[in-house]
Amino acid sequence: MRALTVIPSQKDSLAVTDVPEPEPGEGDLLVEGLAVGVCGTDKEIAAGEYGWAPPGRDRLVIGHESLGRVRQAPSGSGFAPGDLVVGVVRRPDPVPCGACAHGQFDMCRNGRYTERGIKELDGYAGQSWVVEPGYAVRLDPRLADVGMLLEPTSVVAKAWDEVEKVGARAWFAPKTALVTGAGPIGLLAALLGVQRGLEVHVLDRVTDGPKPALVRDLGAVYHAGDAGEVAAKVSPDVVIEATGAGPVIFAVAANTAPYGIVCLTGVSSAGRRITLDAGGLNRDIVLQNDVLIGSVNANLGHYAGAADALARADLAWLNRLISRRVPLEALHDAFTAGPQDVKVVIEL
Ligand code: BGC
Repeated sequence: MRALTVIPSQKDSLAVTDVPEPEPGEGDLLVEGLAVGVCGTDKEIAAGEYGWAPPGRDRLVIGHESLGRVRQAPSGSGFAPGDLVVGVVRRPDPVPCGACAHGQFDMCRNGRYTERGIKELDGYAGQSWVVEPGYAVRLDPRLADVGMLLEPTSVVAKAWDEVEKVGARAWFAPKTALVTGAGPIGLLAALLGVQRGLEVHVLDRVTDGPKPALVRDLGAVYHAGDAGEVAAKVSPDVVIEATGAGPVIFAVAANTAPYGIVCLTGVSSAGRRITLDAGGLNRDIVLQNDVLIGSVNANLGHYAGAADALARADLAWLNRLISRRVPLEALHDAFTAGPQDVKVVIEL
């Protein structure tokens, strides 16, 4: 079958190649791959900057924002042919560490976790794939065109869960949230903030294209000004940071409301230096009981929360997040950013 593969660490190795049909192990589901979303991590893998092939192999099938339709399901699996499903990205480490042993593989402590399409396990950008029923999430059939948004939604469901858990260390009744970055992660974070009844503000650089209207149509407020000034004006109780840009991160961190919680979700490249008032920032964090948290990946509970959030969202709005749908053989189009792109999807 045809699949999108890469030789990790080798720039320009991304290609559609023939790979063996996946064989379902005992108990596994066999799934027809419908589509995958492309994200920044996929672009890093394609650039040779991230990603690991399965042991003993050169090529990795990429794709971790999956969507498929069950073809074969063993009886007792809880799934049936025709079900719309998404495969979970991460698997626990083999030791397992305490977190993985408790189902919190998103919090793995020894770094030996594996990830479909990213780290040592083939991903979902193939015409068929197999998955263990315990790592498959059934979607509302209404989400047939947008279900590949589940994985990025699981990432923001985790971010909100972290914020709420950390906030609960003392009295916490957040009213205002600022989301920095209006890419798919930022927009989905804003959706979940609005669903929680918060006043949501979204900051990005652009003043045209689809992002301002996508934000406004959620009932949130769009800003394109200076990050520090916007944060000072909004005075957010919660920040979901989705740019990974140092100047934005520290400008908003210095301007939250007291007891402000900043959740960092953007993966940045190392080596970018900025000048900041470390004393002033430290003083502000200490005197206000502020928190900065990092958040990556998602566990099964977050996938369930994300599936629920998407089922409750406006389908037309979710569809507008998908800027382009590109066939598998046109992979290079999918990996070249267009000026108006929010999410690009590869159809399998
Ligand atoms: C994925 C996560 C993954 C992370 C690090 C992100 O793009 O959405 O599931 O854990 O990359 O590999």
